[in-house]
Amino acid sequence: MDMFTLFPTISTSFIVISAILVAIGWGLIIKGRREAHKKVMIAAAVAALIFFIIYASRTIFVGNTNWGGPADLEIYYRVFLIFHIVLATVAAVFGLTTLVLAFKEKFAKHRKWGRTTAVIWFFTAITGVAVYILLYVMYPGGHTKPMIDAIFGT
Ligand code: HEM
Repeated sequence: MDMFTLFPTISTSFIVISAILVAIGWGLIIKGRREAHKKVMIAAAVAALIFFIIYASRTIFVGNTNWGGPADLEIYYRVFLIFHIVLATVAAVFGLTTLVLAFKEKFAKHRKWGRTTAVIWFFTAITGVAVYILLYVMYPGGHTKPMIDAIFGT
């Protein structure tokens, strides 16, 4: 595996790990295990942060990978990619809000936000894996390009 595929593989794995931890953390709080819920959710947030650090460094130093599949599927890929990016951004804002509410011990609000955050985070992970499969598994990845070019094409 070359380094153009290695970094996305590592960062995508961290999204998946983070989503699995959120699912485990949700299960724990349903059983009333508050302390375990806290620890697992903090681990999920750390995994998400690691994803973001790897993703951001790669974007800065290597660039993003352009679409390498058939031209007639490109528009669907780009719409899907933008959907995934919007989901991930919303998930990050909701995730931070959920954490702040928990640390301020506003648990009624935290509970409401937490449910929405968890669901958005699951969709972010699923669409993230789909983008990874489309970009690196189903089709040979295109060349890396600066971020804006890889998202909107040039
Ligand atoms: C981003 C991280 C987190 C997410 C996604 C999250 C998610 C959730 C969800 C979905 C629930 C509601 C479970 C249900 O009733 O179905 C919940 C409840 C709860 N969470 Fe979190 N949580 C996070 C972090 C934390 C942290 C760091 C703490 C502790 C400081 C915490 C403490 C609690 C408590 C005490 C409840 C129970 C609230 C109640 O029943 O009134 N959570 N969380």
